Amino acid sequence: MNIIRKRSWEMPERLATPEAAFLNRRAFLAGAAGAGAILSGVAMPRPAFAEGDPSAGLYPAARNDAYVIEREITPERLTSRYNNFYEFGSHKQIASAAQALKIRPWEVRIDGLCDNPQTIAIDDLLKKMKLEERLYRHRCVEAWSMAVPWTGFPLADLVSLAGPKAGAKYLRMETFLDPDVASGQRADWYPWPYVEGLTLAEATNELAFMVTGVYGKPLAKQYGAPLRLAVPWKYGFKSIKSIVRFSFTEERPQSFWEQIAASEYGFWANVNPQVPHPRWSQAREQLLATGEHVPTRLFNGYGEQVAGLYKGLEGENLYM
Ligand code: MTE
Repeated sequence: MNIIRKRSWEMPERLATPEAAFLNRRAFLAGAAGAGAILSGVAMPRPAFAEGDPSAGLYPAARNDAYVIEREITPERLTSRYNNFYEFGSHKQIASAAQALKIRPWEVRIDGLCDNPQTIAIDDLLKKMKLEERLYRHRCVEAWSMAVPWTGFPLADLVSLAGPKAGAKYLRMETFLDPDVASGQRADWYPWPYVEGLTLAEATNELAFMVTGVYGKPLAKQYGAPLRLAVPWKYGFKSIKSIVRFSFTEERPQSFWEQIAASEYGFWANVNPQVPHPRWSQAREQLLATGEHVPTRLFNGYGEQVAGLYKGLEGENLYM
């Protein structure tokens, strides 16, 4: 993401892309023919789609028709080549570098204030969960958006597997840490590993979804295989990738971006077109598929499901 880093003197100049340059690059990518046409003309490696994944037989899962959207699905050739995954670089073309990630064996630790702490292999976790496909909008804080057919299971099912204790108020999630594989993690001006958090009420909201697949196949590595979050009413940075640990806590966890620039990337990060990012407007978003600019919607259009979560919290910075 494009941020003002607290310790900017520690990072190479080329990483400090001004927002105007970012938007110009997006405008270039979008072009008259749309981002798709331009991107497909770029010499990019063909993305690998988790070939040989032992969970391949679980896909495609049946679509849950309660979660469909009015927008066309963004083509896979675009979403698989335009990714934010800072572990593999601070630009969007990380798909090739992300193939270095080893997703088997992959263990997930569940700990903290819960009755059933455990370490579980991803394929054992998958056996316990019923997979379904949902069509979700995804709105990045950088003001671009896409529409994706994720496959996975409700985060609420993982929470009930853990059995949170009465004192648990938050769910903290953590990405793998392996600088040998993820070159981005050698950049020590970032507070690795990537961490995100939700309140328990958010984590058990019906929309909070653990993603294990996309486009009817196991998740390719650049999307955050083998397990990532999708919380579509929040800016995309809340949707943490390649999770290895879930901890139930009493204290509110401090997320990766919050540690870097709390005044720009807060804990709540709910989408709201009326609350600008300190350095740019959030009123509109650019569709990755066509380059078209469309109005952004409160809670990214999911107010019916989530607005109630924030009653009584009006004093909080809910929208940044
Ligand atoms: N998770 C980790 N571990 N590292 C990241 O850099 N980027 C976030 C989020 N999750 C990120 C992450 C941001 S800013 C966005 S917009 C989405 O992942 C991008 O998901 P996509 O690449 O599947 O579009």
